[in-house]
Amino acid sequence: MTTDPALPTYPAGLRLAGRKVVVVGGGNVAQRRLPALIAAGARAHVVSPHVTPAIEGLVGSGEVSWAPRGFEAADLDDAWYVVAATGDPAVNEQVGRAAEERRTFCVRSDDADRATALTPAVGRHAGLVVAVLGERPGDRDPRRSAGVRDEVVEGLREGRLAARHHRRRTPGVVLVGGGPGDPELLSVAARKALMEADVVVADRLAPREALGDLPADVELVDVAKLPRGRSAAQEEINRVIVERALAGKRVVRFKGGDSFVFGRGYEEVLACREAGVPVTVVPGLASPIAVPGLAGIPVTHRGVAHAFTVVSGHLPPGHPDSLVDWDALARLRGTVVLMMAVQNAAAIAATLVTGGRAPGTPVAVVCDGTMPTQRTVLSTLGKLGDDIEAEQVRAPAIVVVGEVVAVAHPDHYS
Ligand SMILES: C[S@@+](CC[C@H](N)C(=O)[O-])C[C@H]1O[C@@H](n2cnc3c(N)ncnc32)[C@H](O)[C@@H]1O
Repeated sequence: MTTDPALPTYPAGLRLAGRKVVVVGGGNVAQRRLPALIAAGARAHVVSPHVTPAIEGLVGSGEVSWAPRGFEAADLDDAWYVVAATGDPAVNEQVGRAAEERRTFCVRSDDADRATALTPAVGRHAGLVVAVLGERPGDRDPRRSAGVRDEVVEGLREGRLAARHHRRRTPGVVLVGGGPGDPELLSVAARKALMEADVVVADRLAPREALGDLPADVELVDVAKLPRGRSAAQEEINRVIVERALAGKRVVRFKGGDSFVFGRGYEEVLACREAGVPVTVVPGLASPIAVPGLAGIPVTHRGVAHAFTVVSGHLPPGHPDSLVDWDALARLRGTVVLMMAVQNAAAIAATLVTGGRAPGTPVAVVCDGTMPTQRTVLSTLGKLGDDIEAEQVRAPAIVVVGEVVAVAHPDHYS
């Protein structure tokens, strides 16, 4: 029987577990096909005088069997599926004919138009198999199929393709850290969580551009518009996320950086737990590391800093509510990374100098990380207060104190 390559193909998924599959050929094509056959549980049998070292390894580990000789039609007895993957079209033709006689489907590496089965470009994501085939001879461009496969799988991974209306969404809250601001720095898991949300409760510092991609039916709650005042706002956020989740919604609490780095994320975890609402966490790139990194400043460097300490500067040294031991901090030799510290930077710098740090210690203030207005103000502990004023530094900013700043900017400190 002849195969008419112009007719449409009939896509199917084969269950090959425990079934004999014969791969004729032992080169690179066979090597590429075998892992998927093994993963599907097939009893893969290779027929070829020679095989690649990788296939030899699979034989050695007992994952495939090998007949080290040329092809014989009887090799296909009892086979459910055949892969003709030799470099010789005449042998592949012979394999194809023997398969046809046995009513066994056969793919051919050399000529898809003469094969009874086609190997699609395959990708997998979250329980879905994406298989792309060129329909007719002119459409069978393996690069195009692989490109489409990659686009689809990437879209699923990044949450751009979510098939929302067909997915069962579990009610609950996901705390998503959005990184320092640029949506490109969102994790794949963060994007996916956003695309699966019914409600997104977003902070001012969350990468808001990412919200533009949300489907139109997602409810967006802007935290900046909730009641003013630190505790009132937090109580309202807790109330909103718990209430929506109890109403059966999937809620994403979307913040800048990481939810657990001065993000009050754990208060939200506790509120959810108290209300019996399932809560999970997607960590984000935290600004104390990411923002200096974006500005080309490492927080550690071999032979320079063996430690870095992240400190909130929202309360000045000596404030009765401060939980920071500023004297101990001054005695540490590593990098100090200050957050929320613009207002109190002068007082903090003075305390660090009084505690033992040299006034010439390099300091970098990285403002508006990832935003078009991002800039770095270079200073020293001794001059920090004046420089912040002169440069009109405003929040958000990360202050990096230590020799790592000089490592990144040797000319400035020489
Ligand atoms: C309330 S804290 C939240 C931190 C956040 N959870 C994180 O992990 O990055 C806000 C502070 O983070 C720092 N910050 C956050 N994003 C920043 C950015 N893009 N550029 C500079 N500093 C940033 C600033 O020190 C700001 O005052």
